[in-house]
Amino acid sequence: MTQKQSSCSPTFVSVCDLSSLLEPVREDLDLVEQWLNSNLVDDSPFIAELLGQVFQAGGKRIRPALVLLAARATAAVPGSLTSLQTILAVLTELIHTASLVHDDVIDAASLRRGQETVNRKWSDKLAVLIGDLLFAQASVCLAKLSNPPIVGIYGQVLGDLCAGEIRQMRQQFVLAVDWDSYIQKSIWKTASLFAAGCESAAILNGCPGTAHAALKEYGLKLGICFQIVDDLLDFTGNSHTLGKSAGSDLAQGLITAPALFVLQRQDAPAAALKKLLQTRAVMSPEGLTQALSIVSNGGGIEATVELAGQYAAEAREALRPLTPSLYRDTLESLSDWLLTRTK
Ligand code: FPP
Ligand code: MG
Repeated sequence: MTQKQSSCSPTFVSVCDLSSLLEPVREDLDLVEQWLNSNLVDDSPFIAELLGQVFQAGGKRIRPALVLLAARATAAVPGSLTSLQTILAVLTELIHTASLVHDDVIDAASLRRGQETVNRKWSDKLAVLIGDLLFAQASVCLAKLSNPPIVGIYGQVLGDLCAGEIRQMRQQFVLAVDWDSYIQKSIWKTASLFAAGCESAAILNGCPGTAHAALKEYGLKLGICFQIVDDLLDFTGNSHTLGKSAGSDLAQGLITAPALFVLQRQDAPAAALKKLLQTRAVMSPEGLTQALSIVSNGGGIEATVELAGQYAAEAREALRPLTPSLYRDTLESLSDWLLTRTK
């Protein structure tokens, strides 16, 4: 395993095994997993089955790992962890999972984490309710923390998730190149929760302002990087590796970084891509294939890799004020891993 890389691979060969990278918080993550698989089980066997469908499919657990690493990196007793930090990690994963269950309804998706989605296996109505149940469980965890500033931070995250999804819907097939809007949407959809987890871990430790500001900035930049790579994988990945359908953003008129890089030029490929989108030809398999090859032949993939790399570097830079430790090093290495991930 390579824990540290000086540069990312534009060909996206995964050189870093996430599980080995997260070894310093392996036992903590196991506890989070136990929580997700047992503490949520309801009296109803049917609800337990639905929750099993959602959680036993796994997931990368990046968000709880960030909370645990940030917590251990800023603990008053170096490297220690409190039970409240575990609850914070659990609630962060609950919010993420709930939002994915709802997202799959919005996208009419049939595959997530390599398994049939709840909406596909049962119905949209049940998926909405299971998502709500997970948000409710997250609220109970939040109450256990008894920390009003953290309640405010996570309240903002819930609003941001909705705002991001609404922004995305309103921008379908909107061809004006607006990078600020793309980054803002990525913050709302993804980075806001990353930042909340990292910052709140420091707040629970009673850290000085500099530490939580640093971790908030790290989470924000890492989250933007994560979403950019997610958008990239929609072009370069496949449903087998991703565990969800790939190649569908453009078909739905969702114009993300790889396409934005091509559209912002005044050349023939930009005009051809614009036409395929304007006429909705991308909604057909032939039109989509054409659009995807315009983006990859037009340098959209490489430019997106570079953009993600810039945010990863900013995330690493944000960690500087933290006291050096194994946990800070692991947070740093995570930014490298993100650039090489294939799922
Ligand atoms: C997945 O991203 C989706 C999100 C990160 C956020 C979805 C948020 C909502 C549906 C709103 C949640 C509701 C409440 C009440 C807070 P993606 O669509 O880019 O990736 P994908 O390919 O994995 O679907
Ligand atoms: Mg989606």
